Parts: sequence; structure tokens; C-alpha cells
Amino acid sequence: MVRTRFCDVFGVDHPIVQGGMQWVGKAELVSAVANAGALGFLTALTQPTPEDLAKEIARCREMTDKPFGVNLTILPSINPPPYAEYRDVIVESGVPVVETAGFNPAEHLPTFQGGGVKVLHKCTSVRHAVKAQDLGVDGISIDGFECAGHPGEDDIPGLVLIPAAADRISIPMVASGGFGDARGLVAALALGADGINMGTRFVATQEAPVHENVKLAMVEASERDTELIFRPLRNTARVASNTVSREVVSILDGGGEFEDVRELVAGNRGRTRVLEEGDTDGGIWSAGLVQGLIQDVPTVAELVSRIAGGADELINRRLAGLAG
Ligand SMILES: Cc1cc2nc3c(=O)[nH]c(=O)nc-3n(C[C@H](O)[C@H](O)[C@H](O)COP(=O)(O)O)c2cc1C
Repeated sequence: MVRTRFCDVFGVDHPIVQGGMQWVGKAELVSAVANAGALGFLTALTQPTPEDLAKEIARCREMTDKPFGVNLTILPSINPPPYAEYRDVIVESGVPVVETAGFNPAEHLPTFQGGGVKVLHKCTSVRHAVKAQDLGVDGISIDGFECAGHPGEDDIPGLVLIPAAADRISIPMVASGGFGDARGLVAALALGADGINMGTRFVATQEAPVHENVKLAMVEASERDTELIFRPLRNTARVASNTVSREVVSILDGGGEFEDVRELVAGNRGRTRVLEEGDTDGGIWSAGLVQGLIQDVPTVAELVSRIAGGADELINRRLAGLAG
């Protein structure tokens, strides 16, 4: 099995990470990822209050005795959630690792590290990765333009972003955005990463707590079926292409403002109509280009063992056979 220094630093069997996912990163999925020997992250802000996050961590612990972490995403917001309180719950509950995203982690780093919580910082540019490394985080997740969610505004795909980051990063680093199978893991290792982070591929698993229609839509979708919304607002998000996301793009491209799309992009609309009720045209939901590589809805254990075992086989047979 492929094992890298990422496994040693973060205490997992496989160099495979399930990144934080709003409304999806709950105990059912995260415990399954942990039980499969990979590193899963509960999503802090999926829980309505810091107290609910503490309960979700406890619920996840009932479902696995393996390590797992919590994602804390800080994005521009009109009414910001109580980030410091979520942070304190993460530290007090004794989870071994946090995935920080969307912000410079400096403000929260002393509390996390003082509390013995390792920090895996996710970012979308080499300069932000270098900055986080200089601040003293324990690992980097470098997220390319292919990714679901927020790819940043630089638009650098993994084939260049990952080796460019590897040239500057000396701490463990996982590659993110567009990964879904063993070929991706081997490619990430070849490009200089120590493992992979996946979001979209983990949504299309049996344990992901979303409606079956969403998983089947991912199987049916091709690599062309995403939209980049909020581009003109410089807060780009990659989401599944559907009637709502196409309308949002058209309104904003036509000079509209956030107020004009507020109802369409409401997080609660995507959560209830799409993820819970299964109307895949009902609202906005995040999905990456890797949809084009998703052909089935396996269990998490099947997926992780397929990627880890497949990578081993690819390296030892196909690639070894090519070496002189
Ligand atoms: C449904 C969904 C929700 C997501 N929500 C978040 C989030 O709240 N915070 C975050 O840091 N990343 C979020 N992401 C991004 C993932 O953690 C991960 O970085 C990304 O999906 C990697 O690209 P991939 O989808 O090509 O694997 C989300 C992704 C998906 C698919």
C-alpha cells in the first residue's frame, strides 16, 4: 500500500483526505472515511451552533475509534458565525486535526497548536501555501482550479499548481481538486504531493448523507457539467451546472449584483431542495470537474481501498514496467 509522510504526521493508513463539505461533512461520512483508514473532516459550520458541533464530534466518536478532524471555513459573510467559539469547541473536544480554509489561519493558529490540534491549511495558491507554511501550520492542502467550492481567482489547474507548490513547500502537502481514482493519487505523488484530498468523489458514496438523486446526477454528469458562479464578484465558486446556477451566471454576467441572485444562491435552498429532497435543479450545490470520472456510488471503504490498492498496482506494474 502507498504510504507517505502524510500518514505518519496525521496518523492515518492512507494518504487520502475527505475535505470539509458544507451540509455533507457529517458523522455518517466522516466516520466511514476514518474506518477506511483515511482522514475525514466534519464541517464545523454545518452544525448550527458550536454546541451542536460538540455533539456531532461525540456522535462521530461513537461510530469510529480512528482519528478524524474538523473543517473550519471562514469566508466573507454579512453575519459571521461565532468562529472563535467553533474553534474552541474543536480544541476542547480533543480532535487531533483541523482543516482550515478560506482565510489566513494566523489568528487561530496559537489556540489550535497550543491545544495540540494539528493544522492542515487548505488554499488555492502557492503564495498562500508558502505564507501558511511560514506561519507554522503542519500541512498544506493545495486546491487546484478543478475543485468544487472555492477555487480562488488565479485559475491554475493542478498540473501546474501542484509541482509549483511542491517546489516551495517542505511540510507534508496533499493535492486537491479533480482527484477521484488511483490514477489521480499516483499523478499527485509524481507531481510532488504526499497524498490527495477529495470532495466531490466522496459525495458519490453510499455513506454521504445526501439524496440519492445527487449521487446519480454526479454519475451521469461529465467533466463539462459545472458552472463558475460569482466570478464578477471575485468570490468564485464551482458548482453543478443546473437551471439555477446557469441563471445566476447569466444575471451576474449581465451586470446584476449579489442582491439580484441572493434568493437563488441561498445556502438553505440548496440544502433542503437539492441535498435533502433530491431536486437537482432546486438550488446551488457544489461539484467539481471530477464528476466526469465518477461512474458509480461505492461504499467509502470500497472507494478508499480501490484508490489505495489501485495506486499500488499502477506504481508497481504499469510504471515500474516503463522504467528502464
Ligand atoms: C458539496 C461540497 C461542499 C463543500 N464545502 C466546503 C466547505 O464548506 N469548506 C471547504 O473548505 N471546502 C468545501 N468543499 C471543498 C472540498 O473540501 C474540497 O476542497 C474540494 O471538493 C476538492 O475538489 P474535488 O471536489 O475536485 O475533489 C466542498 C466541496 C463539495 C463537493
